[in-house]
Amino acid sequence: MRIPYYETSLKKKIKADRQDRRERIERDLLKYGGEILESAEMKDSFGQTHHLWSTVGEHTVRVTVTSVLICYALRKLNIPTNIPAVVVGSLCHDLGIMGRDEKFSNKKEMSREHPRESVNVARTLVPELSDTSEEIIERHMWPAGGSKAPGSKESLIVSVADKYTAVKDIFKGSDVKGTGVRNTAQRQREFVENRVQEQIEKASEFINEITE
Ligand SMILES: [Fe+2]
Ligand SMILES: [Fe+2]
Repeated sequence: MRIPYYETSLKKKIKADRQDRRERIERDLLKYGGEILESAEMKDSFGQTHHLWSTVGEHTVRVTVTSVLICYALRKLNIPTNIPAVVVGSLCHDLGIMGRDEKFSNKKEMSREHPRESVNVARTLVPELSDTSEEIIERHMWPAGGSKAPGSKESLIVSVADKYTAVKDIFKGSDVKGTGVRNTAQRQREFVENRVQEQIEKASEFINEITE
């Protein structure tokens, strides 16, 4: 098959755009969230599981990148957003979930209380935490966890990015080595797969019985 005349330049353009975008994201994350990224809290967050097969740290970075990408897309539509507040808010949104087994007595309490805990952590990392960042953290669980609805474009962006990323976490898992997360993840994955297999077998037995 003949290669269309535009294919090479199209591929080059896509590659260059991706590289530009990656550099831009990195620049914004380091500029507005450098101190948070280098904090001990952030480092620890790569050692706690989150959304079955990921870690709090990886989830956090994924939410931040997705949120920033949404901001870039909105800018193209002439809808300005507060990128510094989005970076700070999304980087801190789940840091209060660290040590969840000791902090919260059940899942419901964890889901309701961790945003407030995250605001407290954010205040220690960013002494002049903006109102927008605080609102992003406090309302990111919406519509779950009894959270108030987002009151700004920025908190809506992070709340949506959080849900999208939660699904992505389950499929992508963790790349963290030496924390035991991957092993735990593997066991959890096998457990779920076996359960699914059991259910399929039960269902097919039932179908066989009623169709005999
Ligand atoms: Fe959360
Ligand atoms: Fe989250």
